Amino acid sequence: MGRSRLEGFARSCLLLVLASYCSSRGGADSSVKVLMSDVVEAEIGEMAVIKCQTSIPENHSYTYVFWYSMEKHLNDKMERKKIVEMINGNEVHNDSEAKSRFLVASNFSLLIRKVTPQDAKMYICKVGLGGPGVAENRTELRVSKAPEMPEIQKENRGLTAGDPKMQEIAKCVSHNGYPTPTITWYKDNDPLGPDRNDTEVHFAVTRESSGLMTVHSTLMARVTKEDRESTFHCQVNYVLMGINKTAESDHFRVDVYYPSENVTFEIEPPGQEVKEGDNITLRCKADGNPEPLYTLYSVKGEKEEELPNISGVYVFTSIKREDSGVYQCKVLDFEVTAAIELSAELNLLVNYIDVPTFSSPSPVNVDIGKDLKITCKAKGSKPLEVHWEKKGTRIANGTQLILNAVNYESLGKYTCITTMPGFSNYFKSKQVLVTVIGKPHVFAQKQTMYVQVGEQVNFTCEVYSVSPVNITWSEPNGTAHKAKHGHQHHISVFMVKITDSLLESGLNCSAKNSKGESWYHFRVKQVVTTPPSSRAGNGTSEKAQEGGAAGSRPKQESKKESKGVIIVAVIICILLIAVLGAVLYFLHKKGRLHCSRSGKQEITRPEAHKNEIVVEVKSDKLPEEAGLLQGANGEKRSPGDQGEKYIDLRN
Ligand SMILES: *[C@@H]1O[C@H](CO)[C@@H](O)[C@H](O)[C@H]1NC(C)=O
Ligand SMILES: *[C@@H]1O[C@H](CO)[C@@H](O)[C@H](O)[C@H]1NC(C)=O
Ligand SMILES: *[C@@H]1O[C@H](CO)[C@@H](O)[C@H](O)[C@H]1NC(C)=O
Ligand SMILES: *[C@@H]1O[C@H](CO)[C@@H](O)[C@H](O)[C@H]1NC(C)=O
Ligand SMILES: *[C@@H]1O[C@H](CO)[C@@H](O)[C@H](O)[C@H]1NC(C)=O
Ligand SMILES: *[C@@H]1O[C@H](CO)[C@@H](O)[C@H](O)[C@H]1NC(C)=O
Ligand SMILES: *[C@@H]1O[C@H](CO)[C@@H](O)[C@H](O)[C@H]1NC(C)=O
Ligand SMILES: *[C@@H]1O[C@H](CO)[C@@H](O)[C@H](O)[C@H]1NC(C)=O
Ligand SMILES: *[C@@H]1O[C@H](CO)[C@@H](O)[C@H](O)[C@H]1NC(C)=O
Ligand SMILES: *[C@@H]1O[C@H](CO)[C@@H](O)[C@H](O)[C@H]1NC(C)=O
Ligand SMILES: *[C@@H]1O[C@H](CO)[C@@H](O)[C@H](O)[C@H]1NC(C)=O
Ligand SMILES: *[C@@H]1O[C@H](CO)[C@@H](O)[C@H](O)[C@H]1NC(C)=O
Repeated sequence: MGRSRLEGFARSCLLLVLASYCSSRGGADSSVKVLMSDVVEAEIGEMAVIKCQTSIPENHSYTYVFWYSMEKHLNDKMERKKIVEMINGNEVHNDSEAKSRFLVASNFSLLIRKVTPQDAKMYICKVGLGGPGVAENRTELRVSKAPEMPEIQKENRGLTAGDPKMQEIAKCVSHNGYPTPTITWYKDNDPLGPDRNDTEVHFAVTRESSGLMTVHSTLMARVTKEDRESTFHCQVNYVLMGINKTAESDHFRVDVYYPSENVTFEIEPPGQEVKEGDNITLRCKADGNPEPLYTLYSVKGEKEEELPNISGVYVFTSIKREDSGVYQCKVLDFEVTAAIELSAELNLLVNYIDVPTFSSPSPVNVDIGKDLKITCKAKGSKPLEVHWEKKGTRIANGTQLILNAVNYESLGKYTCITTMPGFSNYFKSKQVLVTVIGKPHVFAQKQTMYVQVGEQVNFTCEVYSVSPVNITWSEPNGTAHKAKHGHQHHISVFMVKITDSLLESGLNCSAKNSKGESWYHFRVKQVVTTPPSSRAGNGTSEKAQEGGAAGSRPKQESKKESKGVIIVAVIICILLIAVLGAVLYFLHKKGRLHCSRSGKQEITRPEAHKNEIVVEVKSDKLPEEAGLLQGANGEKRSPGDQGEKYIDLRN
């Protein structure tokens, strides 16, 4: 308090000096000056501060400060009314309303709490000093408040384009502003000024009980079809604390009704030819708003058939060739007084390919060695391309399949495929089965069987024959099972116990039908259990071999021994025996060897082990070994083998 008074005093002194220095007006009875702004701005609801600065001469203190407001009386005369007075630091209010809202600060400023619109008036501050007199000055208080955001009120109905009458576009409302705001309308961001002859704006103001202003503006316009693309909005313009401000409403469009002028009727997907099986949409579209009524017809000669449609759309799921023809769309638009009828037509062509047919029905039986010609007949809505495939591989172009000198490789399924140029992945196909008639074709998966004497072994023989066939085996002691495997594919499984004679002769599978007889020869080999090289210097190898031959089943892997290894092994064995013989003979001659009975036996006993030793040592067995190796390479052919080891009859 004391400090601010001191400050005020100092400032006053300065002002006084200035004032007295500058004062040229004579006769001023007072050296007191009251300095006030012309205008003070305040926001409604907030506190207003009206300053009153005084220049008090030295050695003088004020005696009172009076605050007045200028009130308008009924007779339009302005009169001042005292609001508050401060005498020697004591505030006096005559009414309680004034007491609660007005107060004087120590620097004489008038504070107004919770400013209302009614507070906007002229305020006078009068300062009285004991000696030099009194002075006063005045300030106008302006109050303001930002209005609420402008809101668009629009009826949810369409506007008719071309109507000569003005139609209401929308209302714009902004609540509770002060002083009264204004509203400007915009179309596509251009202001709609009052000078336009195609729009009208009706403006209204409501004073709320609070004293705040609510403004309403209605935009009327003559609507054109182009307005369907326009966006509109309104803007409220107001002053807050002396500054011009604006706020924009949402931008909106109007639903403009206009009659249809043009109608389009199209096939979707567009720009491509239609084929059977496609999903096709017929779409009729008129350019009016709202959507007019569509009627779709299929015109078949004289007959018109109505198609159900949803908003002018009709869908064919998996279209058929019968759906080809003329289609019509009619549009009825009631938007204008005289109903308009428009129509459009389209021609729908559905392409197709027939399933091909053959010159001879399937299956086609052909005698072995003969020529075969099959023609594939293709029909479609356009020229077609034809080709033949077997097992997925293209084997001939054109409608004709020609097979010269048919053999068993020729049998199987042939597919004729017809395609339509210009359409991707559109084809029809049909299969024809070609069967070859001749003496049976006999074959097997395994040509050479590796066995043990005494073992039960199954031999499997496969026979291809169109006509009935008898399959027989060369060995009487055994049992054959038929495992029929297809129409012309026969399988015979022969279970037999291996004998020495079977090892020598091998086994034949014969097949006989009305056209003749064929046979297949199986070679039967004793399994070689131990690689011959292992005999070198290992006393246990012979024993192991014996045990292996009698008991444990040797692995079939042994046959995979390479030719080279066996030959080298045989040579090494021969050399070793030769050397051993030489050494024994030498020692015997020298008399150093004390021949025991067992030792002699070892040398003189080879007869007992003839089988084993013969297999590996005897040179007369070597050609067979070589044959075995050849067989493994698949080079040597059996008499029954007609060039193809295995024909896949599944296709
Ligand atoms: C009122 O105050 C202003 C300064 O704010 C001053 O220029 C003006 O002279 C004063 N008027 C009177 C009558 O003192
Ligand atoms: C102010 O008062 C003091 C004594 O109270 C006096 O000496 C001085 O002259 C006065 N100054 C003026 C300008 O009257
Ligand atoms: C209060 O009332 C008295 C007597 O009616 C008057 O002299 C004085 O100016 C009034 N004061 C205010 C602040 O209205
Ligand atoms: C409106 O004004 C334009 C020129 O600004 C004029 O061409 C048009 O005829 C006027 N329309 C009417 C209905 O007066
Ligand atoms: C505020 O707007 C009024 C009219 O609306 C205009 O006369 C005045 O110049 C504007 N003031 C400013 C500071 O732009
Ligand atoms: C109607 O179609 C015609 C010709 O196809 C075209 O010239 C005209 O602009 C179209 N009208 C509308 C409104 O699209
Ligand atoms: C046609 O539509 C059906 C069902 O909507 C669908 O199963 C079929 O795959 C479609 N066909 C084509 C060619 O798109
Ligand atoms: C069939 O014709 C195509 C080209 O159209 C060619 O690439 C193909 O080699 C032909 N095939 C035969 C088996 O002639
Ligand atoms: C041989 O075939 C018969 C009957 O088909 C079967 O029971 C047996 O297990 C087969 N033997 C061998 C060793 O595969
Ligand atoms: C068939 O087996 C019997 C006894 O089981 C035998 O006597 C006969 O010699 C065998 N025949 C042939 C060809 O092996
Ligand atoms: C098959 O053999 C049986 C008897 O052994 C005989 O009756 C039949 O005619 C033979 N069938 C053919 C096609 O040879
Ligand atoms: C010889 O036999 C012994 C005993 O069975 C065995 O440990 C050794 O590996 C064999 N040597 C050869 C070269 O097979």
